[in-house]
Amino acid sequence: MIANVLRFTIIFAVLGGLLASPLIKVHADSAANSEISKSLSSAAHTENDVSIWPVLEVDIDKNEALEQTVAQLLSTMTLEQKIAQMIQPEIRDITPEDMRKYGFGSYLNGGGSFPNGNKHASAHDWIKLAEQMYQASVDNSLDGSSIPTMWGTDAVHGHNNVIGATLFPHNIGLGAMQNPELIEQIAQVTAAEVMVTGIDWVFAPTVAVVRDDRWGRTYESYSENPEIVKTYAASIVRGLQGRPGIDFLNDERVISTVKHFVGDGGTVAGDDQGDNVANEKALYEIHAQGYVGGLTAGAQSVMASFNSWHGEKLHGHRYLLTEVLKERMGFDGFVVGDWNGHGQIKGCSEQDCAQAANAGLDIYMVPTGAWKPLYYNLIEQVNNGVIPLSRIDDAVTRILRVKVRAGLFNKPSPAKRALSGKTNVIGQTSHRDIARQAVRESLVLLKNRNQLLPLSPSQRVLVAGDGADNIGKQSGGWTITWQGTNNTNDDFPGGTSILDGIQEQVERGQGSVSYSIDGQYTEKPDVAIVVFGENPYAEGHGDREHLDYQHGEKSDLALLKRLKSAGIPVVSIFLSGRPMWVNAELNASDAFVAAWLPGSEGAAIASVLFTDPSNRVQHDFKGKLPFSWPKSAHQAAVNVGDTHYDPLLPYGFGLRYGDSDMLAYDLDEDNHDTSDIEQGLALFSGALKAPWQFELVSGSTTSKVVSNTASLASVDYRTIDKTIQEDAILLSAERSEQLQGIQITSSNNMPKEGMSLSAEANYQLSFLLKLDSSIPERLMLGMGCRANQSINSAEDSCMAAVDIAPLLSRHLTGKWESFAVDVNCFTQQGVMTSALTMPFQLLSKNAFNLSLSDIRFEPSSSNTTSLQCE
Ligand code: BGC
Ligand code: BGC
Repeated sequence: MIANVLRFTIIFAVLGGLLASPLIKVHADSAANSEISKSLSSAAHTENDVSIWPVLEVDIDKNEALEQTVAQLLSTMTLEQKIAQMIQPEIRDITPEDMRKYGFGSYLNGGGSFPNGNKHASAHDWIKLAEQMYQASVDNSLDGSSIPTMWGTDAVHGHNNVIGATLFPHNIGLGAMQNPELIEQIAQVTAAEVMVTGIDWVFAPTVAVVRDDRWGRTYESYSENPEIVKTYAASIVRGLQGRPGIDFLNDERVISTVKHFVGDGGTVAGDDQGDNVANEKALYEIHAQGYVGGLTAGAQSVMASFNSWHGEKLHGHRYLLTEVLKERMGFDGFVVGDWNGHGQIKGCSEQDCAQAANAGLDIYMVPTGAWKPLYYNLIEQVNNGVIPLSRIDDAVTRILRVKVRAGLFNKPSPAKRALSGKTNVIGQTSHRDIARQAVRESLVLLKNRNQLLPLSPSQRVLVAGDGADNIGKQSGGWTITWQGTNNTNDDFPGGTSILDGIQEQVERGQGSVSYSIDGQYTEKPDVAIVVFGENPYAEGHGDREHLDYQHGEKSDLALLKRLKSAGIPVVSIFLSGRPMWVNAELNASDAFVAAWLPGSEGAAIASVLFTDPSNRVQHDFKGKLPFSWPKSAHQAAVNVGDTHYDPLLPYGFGLRYGDSDMLAYDLDEDNHDTSDIEQGLALFSGALKAPWQFELVSGSTTSKVVSNTASLASVDYRTIDKTIQEDAILLSAERSEQLQGIQITSSNNMPKEGMSLSAEANYQLSFLLKLDSSIPERLMLGMGCRANQSINSAEDSCMAAVDIAPLLSRHLTGKWESFAVDVNCFTQQGVMTSALTMPFQLLSKNAFNLSLSDIRFEPSSSNTTSLQCE
């Protein structure tokens, strides 16, 4: 019926063009900043100068006996066994049977990837998997090899994939403490909690020196100051691995990885996985200092970075990986790749990449089904002479050297090690005490008008803001899930929210606390504490165009202003993964604390804010800004040492009690045009945009997707990587009596603010789709209002769907192609775009297997429109 009134125009977008520019950013550096970047970079990178790099004095002895053991072992290995040491698959893509058959040298679990896909997996579940993999690796019945495998995980702020673990402040907060001794303890505690789960190796520390705070990984960086990063890297490596000659890699320690080599924090415009154009001297002096610290302390592995240096991807950079890192600096451990990073080298794919090995990569992190073809391709490339056997022998020597140093050949199996299964060690009180101290020391006091802080605990305190009782929000990304989203307070047994701490303090002081997210109160409080800030994100999903906090929304500002205008003194606790432009929020607050991302021990904050019941300060503020605080939304690359250094608050700033307030005057609130063109129109682009969520649909049942795999009835969902991680989803369903599929709905049941698709402008709903099954007979694309989401109710005026199966008939199976459907097709049937709470729905009764990416509204353009309705 619908098809009669439609005119079909199908034009296939050229895929290459789409892939070439996935994440273009506006360059908004101020004049001063671009001057600085000019002085640090040379547009055309010409000659390398290896003498810029130091020959490191590493703490670890060269040990002849060990070298002989390794050489002896290597001489017994087949090419297949050697290549297997170089392949690192992910637990979602291999079974213990694969391990038995191939004997991988290592494997990993990615962020938010758990044994059996179970977020609430117990420590025993983790050990069980570790034990199975280990036993399969030493079983030589199929592959002839009995070399123990090792498991790597991202324990980047505590053992963050495991429920109940102690979660420390993210690195940015630790940078504010400027306390290397505490850093070492934190790392040691992390190692112990990791060992409880039978895991051998962690992908930490991140030693990026972030220079443009728009980068989504700014919070993984200790500081914009390379000196701090250098000192911390050494402390953290010592804490994780122990000290050479003393307690190096003993039963309670793990192998550490200094990452991501090199220049990750210095990409143009803070673009994740982007290009670093620093000259070689700046690359060393700014971006490589963490390697000086970390490798000197004995770090056994280095992770290659996703970024490029002057256009050349690090995974394929022979000069930096081999000539600089290994030959000049003397690193004798192994270089592990990052998440299919080899596939980004020019001329490579995830399945096929001799270039990386030849450049000096020792282990391919290949966390998808690509591990198998990659394995066979590498074998063939050695047999054909594309990769010299000597390079393979060098890589395997490095891997075995680390395994011997880590005692893997002598240690008992994962289930039998000293800490294995000691579940009470995970999140134990002494560990949480260390985390509490870190939280207290990481807080930076930016403003304290009239010495409002410290607060007396005998007052009437109002607590407001969506961060006050939200452990997930205060912990940020890399928290249980990769993005840190979809967690509730119940996912943090033993942890505390910021509100918990306030209640505890005020109860002791016999004051009273009332709590309401939006700041409502019945009795006027003496003081309000408002906790607000960024929502969790990880990696490129956190990249921003500018630093304007709550751009275009400003609901937290409205809350602060409302309280202020009622004459209530306001204390702001700001949660964020980076400094942000918050001039208006600062103006509306009497006191303002940058609390970063404190982790699971939120209660510690209150012991700094409040005096004890007899009005004595319990803990003064100690934290100092690890990053310069911006004066405008566009001042994202202001760094200590710049020639025209003019931030709002300088690097190292931080008030203590009694200090006079520098921000007593009103700050400029004009954001100088941060118009982010049509941002509001993307639904799922790189990542899901707020407030949207995915829901699986089967008949009248829906189920919200909260993890990277999900299913409902016969519908299966899984995130996949198209250009960057998790920028696409794979959906499959079996034939059914009912319509099944997926929809995007608003998580707050409200249409997206500011999203208007004016009829005159002629919008289209566009998406990339890859079909891996035969074409379903009917595939209904719909949109509508939340209240009336059932596609079956014809009388429903705010819901409409069109059959797009005919469009797919010219689709090439197995290829990404772009489709677009004129929004008129829906508005003609009564959909009101101003009220959209379900902007996308794809359902069928037929079996299908398809992938989707980049779902958005965009102004219609004749060359991408697939389906028009006039
Ligand atoms: C990140 C690494 C991480 C790895 C494994 C990558 O995307 O860049 O930092 O160690 O994933 O989860
Ligand atoms: C995976 C995570 C992983 C991340 C690495 C995602 O696609 O689901 O497990 O840690 O990529 O960056």
